[in-house]
Amino acid sequence: MGPAPGDEPRRAEELARSLLAEALPRRWAHTQGVARRVRELAPLLGSDTDLVETAAWLHDIGYSPGLVDTGLHSLDGARFLRYGAISERLDTRTVNEDATRKDSGCHGTSCAEASQPAPGRPRGNLSSAFPIAVPGLVAHHTYARFEAEERGLQNLLDTEFSLTAIKPELLAALTVADLTTSPNGLTVAPNMRLAEISARYPFDHPVSRAIRRAKPEALDMCAHLYREHRSLRAPPHGPSDPPPKTTGGRFSPRTSAR
Ligand SMILES: [Fe+2]
Repeated sequence: MGPAPGDEPRRAEELARSLLAEALPRRWAHTQGVARRVRELAPLLGSDTDLVETAAWLHDIGYSPGLVDTGLHSLDGARFLRYGAISERLDTRTVNEDATRKDSGCHGTSCAEASQPAPGRPRGNLSSAFPIAVPGLVAHHTYARFEAEERGLQNLLDTEFSLTAIKPELLAALTVADLTTSPNGLTVAPNMRLAEISARYPFDHPVSRAIRRAKPEALDMCAHLYREHRSLRAPPHGPSDPPPKTTGGRFSPRTSAR
């Protein structure tokens, strides 16, 4: 039996599972962690908790092999939510190198799983009729604007999904949940999360450049949220602690995926 009508988080969970669980299992583990993290922010979000949890389930579906289009996963996922299934592409699209890199380790044998065709089309019209704020939150989560700029997609992102139409506190909550959840779905400090993302991409890759630009603002926002809401469970080591020392000063790409 499917989710009850109106149960947006469960409907979003089902859609995300259909797009990620088989094709990109680590992305799916991360997604489950982000959704859990949002529930922990319920004291802050109040009646908006379901809305942000819905966006959390869907925030990374743009990595799903069948949905990759521009390469900016936030935009690709948001477009899918707004316009519906891109049905012909789902079985035929070749995963580009960039999309492959973004998932499960991508530097070892786990890359193979990401190169498989999407295991299943989204069933029925699962992608349709989410609250109008959801595609916007997905489009702009976790400082997507920086990566959009680096990819020359900023106008497209802003035109299709206006940032001004989104409540900043909801976007902040989703972003903090994403930045404090590891690729395996565990809670981590945001500086560790940013470091492991950077370590997976060449220095001059658009993602690396975007992360470097977003970092000061991102760490500031996480620290602010946990300072202002001390009842929330802070990530281990605290949001502003330095990352742990690793060999060569970088995280091993094999240990993590964005
Ligand atoms: Fe994420």
